[in-house]
Amino acid sequence: MSLAVDFGVTLTQHVLSRQSRFPEARGQFSALLTQIGVAGKLIAAQVRRAGLIEIWGATGETNVQGETVQKLDRIANDTFIDVLRRSGCVAAMASEEEHEVIEVPPETAGGYVVAFDPLDGSSNIDANVSIGTIFAIYQRRSEDEVLRSDVLRPGREQVGAGYIIYGPSTVLVYTDGQTVDLFTLDPSCGEFFLTRENIKMPARSKLLSLNESNEPYWPAWTRPYVDHVKSRNDAEKRRVSSRHIGSLVADFHRNLLMGGIFLYPADARTNVGKLRVLYECNPLAFIAEVAGGAASFGQGRILDIEPKGLHDRTGLFIGPAADVAEIEEFIRRYSA
Ligand code: F6P
Repeated sequence: MSLAVDFGVTLTQHVLSRQSRFPEARGQFSALLTQIGVAGKLIAAQVRRAGLIEIWGATGETNVQGETVQKLDRIANDTFIDVLRRSGCVAAMASEEEHEVIEVPPETAGGYVVAFDPLDGSSNIDANVSIGTIFAIYQRRSEDEVLRSDVLRPGREQVGAGYIIYGPSTVLVYTDGQTVDLFTLDPSCGEFFLTRENIKMPARSKLLSLNESNEPYWPAWTRPYVDHVKSRNDAEKRRVSSRHIGSLVADFHRNLLMGGIFLYPADARTNVGKLRVLYECNPLAFIAEVAGGAASFGQGRILDIEPKGLHDRTGLFIGPAADVAEIEEFIRRYSA
């Protein structure tokens, strides 16, 4: 009789068991996801200790996006790059915090390219609100050299994507393009265990996530759309509620599990939108689509955007497919 407690399936076991979905797989995708899990654990450890070891607050620098760099932003960025650089799985990376593509020396380069946002929602760091790392995985194109086009490519070419949220618990969600699966870090043994498999987004939204303070800059359709959603409520019943954290990754995660639509339109202030195509929109759009949802920039799929620059931005509407279609309909109606 075995006296071992059954903790369940670890991230590595799960990824390896799914490898048979891809006959051409040689184990490197599994190794990469395991290493991303390792980076997540290292970042989670730093986030947990942030208040104790005085790594709250800003570094005093601004990043390539013109935003204040928080100390934890820098720590998460350097940790993710260091772990992936040594993984043997990656040929190049692109980070929201870096100006240029980060190349891995040919001796240690692997078959994948990863674009990532090391710490999304970092304006929330000092308030102990959930933040997270978002990543997109592509297959490297050429064996000989890494080109900018290895990174500047539409999101539909992703072979994997995911995020790690540092919240009340640390969770890792990833998709291999077939299912969306969720793992929770057991801090007592430092291992991610599978806690939800094949997540599907609820068919309609109960939650509305957007920053309403941007209303003065909104395009014409946004106010009527928001009013339309709110009009589902009446004295008898509240059918929709506002939920907005201001950490995209945490807003998306809640909406994925509970059914919610997230909007960040391109407005008169941001002009092209605020959220980054490569590091935020593409990976979350890939996950949304695999979970049965949708992601649009207003006139089409996020995953069909052909990025011109590493730090391109876009409007983002992401959630249940029916809600995203309704937004596109409002946009059409108001721009006709
Ligand atoms: O892109 C970073 C980010 O912090 C997202 O996580 C979040 O959704 C968004 O910016 C919040 O922007 P704003 O403060 O303009 O609502």
